[in-house]
Amino acid sequence: MTKLKWGMIGGGEGSQIGPAHRLGSGLDSKFEFTAGALDHRPEEGREYGQRLGLASDRSYGSWQDMLAGEKGRDDRVDLVTVATPNSTHYEITKAFLEAGFNVLCEKPMTMTVEEGEDIVRTAKAAGKICAVNYGYTGYSLVRHMKAMIARGDIGKVRLVNTEFAHGHHANAADADNPRVRWRYDPAQAGVSAQFADCGIHAMHMASFVTGQEVEKLSADIVSCLPVRTLEDDAMVNFRMDGGTVGRLWTSSIAIGRQHGLGIQVFGETGGLRWSQEQPNQLYYMPLGERLQVIERGEANLSPEADRSTRVTIGHAEGMPLAFANIYKDLAEAINAQKENRDMDPAANLYPRAEDGLRSMAAVVAVAESGKQDGKWLDARPPMFR
Ligand code: NAI
Repeated sequence: MTKLKWGMIGGGEGSQIGPAHRLGSGLDSKFEFTAGALDHRPEEGREYGQRLGLASDRSYGSWQDMLAGEKGRDDRVDLVTVATPNSTHYEITKAFLEAGFNVLCEKPMTMTVEEGEDIVRTAKAAGKICAVNYGYTGYSLVRHMKAMIARGDIGKVRLVNTEFAHGHHANAADADNPRVRWRYDPAQAGVSAQFADCGIHAMHMASFVTGQEVEKLSADIVSCLPVRTLEDDAMVNFRMDGGTVGRLWTSSIAIGRQHGLGIQVFGETGGLRWSQEQPNQLYYMPLGERLQVIERGEANLSPEADRSTRVTIGHAEGMPLAFANIYKDLAEAINAQKENRDMDPAANLYPRAEDGLRSMAAVVAVAESGKQDGKWLDARPPMFR
């Protein structure tokens, strides 16, 4: 089978997330890195792209040049990843969808709910795939957790407890550093800082594994560093449409915490616990029995887990491999689209524009509820009410 052609916008030299996308997209030999506009500085972007192996005429100086250049080609890219700063996601994603490209957009997908709804409508009208990179849902054992919950291994889900707490913005002496400061400035970051950056991963994970959507929420938000306008810590209570109670903590001042994404799900007949920093183990406690440690790669896991693992048991698989599973799903979705057939259901797990939109509605509800002393608010986008 010929490889699909992949392009990236952003993710230039020294960027945080660019390398994980390049590793993830290349891992299964399903995509070939063919085009890019990698940097906000045209010359640096063009030069870096060529160093990474792009042809000189497909290493573009801007996303606008890339759109114009790729649009006219018979061998145009099959998928464009948008890995630029948040405030540019909407404009770039919309422009590429309208021109008939499939897009994988980094989170948060947009800055407002209205933009999110527009992206959902635009993707639908264009008949193109628009995915959002909640890449941690690609982990094999997260997918197994979802499959276990769906087949009833822990019974009806009562409670989900999720968190994403790190300590990398805890240093008051560093608060004025321009690389940190913009994140807490409403003019650049929007209505929320820590929840929009990290909390949405935890909330999306709760929806992904339970198969339920968040309906309403109540938030307590604080800026532990008083110089900050936006929150650096939030505690969010929520309720899901299947009756599940949700608890979420997110923080950027939790000194000693590194990445800090984790989730626990408690049902009527069992509990499950998983943490991003030890992603190769899933803890399963069936009611009244002994604690079991499920290892990634062991026998008799779900088809979803088997499909999303590559390295033999006992060897660690990490974050770029989770991203690779999002790309693997997207390759299957794009090939199914090209061949006019149904896609493999075990691959139909990649996060959608609809998920990105739901996150934006939750971001706005968290910011508003925080201002109103934790008032419970509808967390659904108007489009889904
Ligand atoms: P960064 O600041 O480290 O890198 C941004 C890159 O985009 C730079 O190379 C910059 O030159 C380039 N860029 C900026 N404007 C551009 C434009 N108009 N055209 C082309 N290139 C442009 O940022 P980082 O941390 O890599 O974040 C990028 C995005 O990825 C953000 O939206 C962030 O929220 C998201 N992210 C997602 C993660 C995940 O787990 N899904 C983890 C980390 C970041």
